Amino acid sequence: MAPIVEVNDLHHRYPNGFHALRGISVAIERGEFLAIIGQNGSGKTTFVKHLNGLLRATSGTVYVNGLDVSKRKVSEMAQTVGYCFQNPDHQIFCETVYKEVSFGPQNLHLSQAEVDQRVEEALVAVSLLDLKDRIPRELSKGQRKRLAVASVLSMRPETLIIDEPTTGQDYRDGIEMLNLVQRLHESGHTVLIITHDMLLVARYAKRVIALRDGQILLEGTPREVFSSPDLLRSAFLAPPPIASLAQALPEFFPDTVLSVDEMVDQTLVVLRQHKEGMRS
Ligand SMILES: Nc1ncnc2c1ncn2[C@@H]1O[C@H](COP(=O)(O)OP(=O)(O)O)[C@@H](O)[C@H]1O
Ligand SMILES: [Mg+2]
Repeated sequence: MAPIVEVNDLHHRYPNGFHALRGISVAIERGEFLAIIGQNGSGKTTFVKHLNGLLRATSGTVYVNGLDVSKRKVSEMAQTVGYCFQNPDHQIFCETVYKEVSFGPQNLHLSQAEVDQRVEEALVAVSLLDLKDRIPRELSKGQRKRLAVASVLSMRPETLIIDEPTTGQDYRDGIEMLNLVQRLHESGHTVLIITHDMLLVARYAKRVIALRDGQILLEGTPREVFSSPDLLRSAFLAPPPIASLAQALPEFFPDTVLSVDEMVDQTLVVLRQHKEGMRS
């Protein structure tokens, strides 16, 4: 099957002349869970805004679901690619939760019953149905972040882009957000997240793209990407601490370790071998 997203030699220059993307090519398969990592200013947000037409390519091409994004309106793309802003307060503008989530579907000229059904479905997905009459600014940061997801979900896009899902939230809201993202992926969405949280990448992402200065520095599974700590450090990134610990002890951990559980398992193997060696 053709990839859901196909980007070829994408460049973006902002009106002030800043060359923020310098030749990005990437194909994303249907159903992928992709993480985009990179230092602040590396071009992550600029890149994903090209996938729903919020930004237009200076040169290069962006196809989503076979549609040339440069020829489509943002409102049209919203039914294919949902983009949740890094800061939900830049996205939320209605005076109630219900209005916020119904805004997109209302503009599709659906029947009121269909709009209500979509709003309910989206609010149930993000566990905010009880709060549908509340004023968005009275919600917690984590709830506002989930509201931003709901207002995108009500357009029923196949691909979801979530810009920094856990940044700026407390632990509980962060976990709730991650569970939500995982559920959305399991229910069939193609998911792209932008994140600085390497544990999150190690745990959830199937593929990682690391950006540096508007170009792709590394691309692969989390294990592959975290196996190049020196390259990552050149972009001011680092593998998760557990991977770095294992890399500091290569005699014990020849392969990249992604989690505490993996480290425990490998340690037990080494200990068993050691004991057997003592016995013989
Ligand atoms: N509207 C803009 N005008 C000029 N430069 C911009 C604009 N938006 C972002 N940039 C610059 O483009 C680069 C990439 O920004 P951004 O995509 O937001 O990075 P990231 O999301 O990785 O932190 C940064 O150097 C940023 O300062
Ligand atoms: Mg950003």
